[in-house]
Amino acid sequence: MNDDVRKYIYGAVTVFLVGVLVWVGIIFVNACGLSLACNRGNTLPETTPIPTLIPATLPVMTMESNAVATPDKCHVAGVDLIGAWVEAGASDTEAFQFEDADGRQCEATFADVQPLFTQANLWYAGSLSCISCHSVDLAVSPAQLDMSSYEGILAGSRRADDAPKGTDILGGGNWSSSLLYQFIAETKADVPGHDGALSSALMVYAGTLLPDVNATPTP
Ligand code: HEC
Repeated sequence: MNDDVRKYIYGAVTVFLVGVLVWVGIIFVNACGLSLACNRGNTLPETTPIPTLIPATLPVMTMESNAVATPDKCHVAGVDLIGAWVEAGASDTEAFQFEDADGRQCEATFADVQPLFTQANLWYAGSLSCISCHSVDLAVSPAQLDMSSYEGILAGSRRADDAPKGTDILGGGNWSSSLLYQFIAETKADVPGHDGALSSALMVYAGTLLPDVNATPTP
């Protein structure tokens, strides 16, 4: 009697296990066929075609992307902009013309040039503004040079005892031989404020585009 019960129990367990195996087998073959290299069970990559959250690791925005926002501005190297102003006679109000980096004819005034001397963090990351050192107070300004105003720039450097005129930093209109050019474009390892890469690499958006004389008029 006990043996019979045991047989029934074993029989039922066996039938159950075989049933489970067959069931799993049917599902497997149904999903994957007879292949073992089937990857249908892998988790799906977590992407959606529509970005929902913008990741915080987007590449740093470059100056170039401003081009879209300011299509009517000229794109020029900072040194070249100052140079064009110097070569045109360094006027405080009159406009001067220059060709920008994209070969377009442009016009600007001293107002476009001045921010290059007054803005910090411009020539390189973390740079001081020129006027934070070369301030109106000649007693403390290095090289007795006041970059904070048009008059100060024209008056030049090394103005001992507040003399009205010092050394011309604009090279008499010859940009490439001027002190200003040298102290902006060349790195002076031993001069504080000039030891970083104050460089010709700085590109700015400044001035206004002149109408293109060669352009075909739109009908
Ligand atoms: C951290 C302070 C500092 C900053 C910022 C600075 N300079 Fe100077 N600059 C100096 C010092 C120091 C000298 C050398 C003074 C000397 O030789 O007696 C100098 C010299 C110069 C000279 C040469 C003057 C001469 O007669 O020899 C010019 C031109 C000049 N700087 C322009 C600039 C301009 C333009 C900027 C901004 C792009 C600037 N400096 C930013 C400290 C600074």
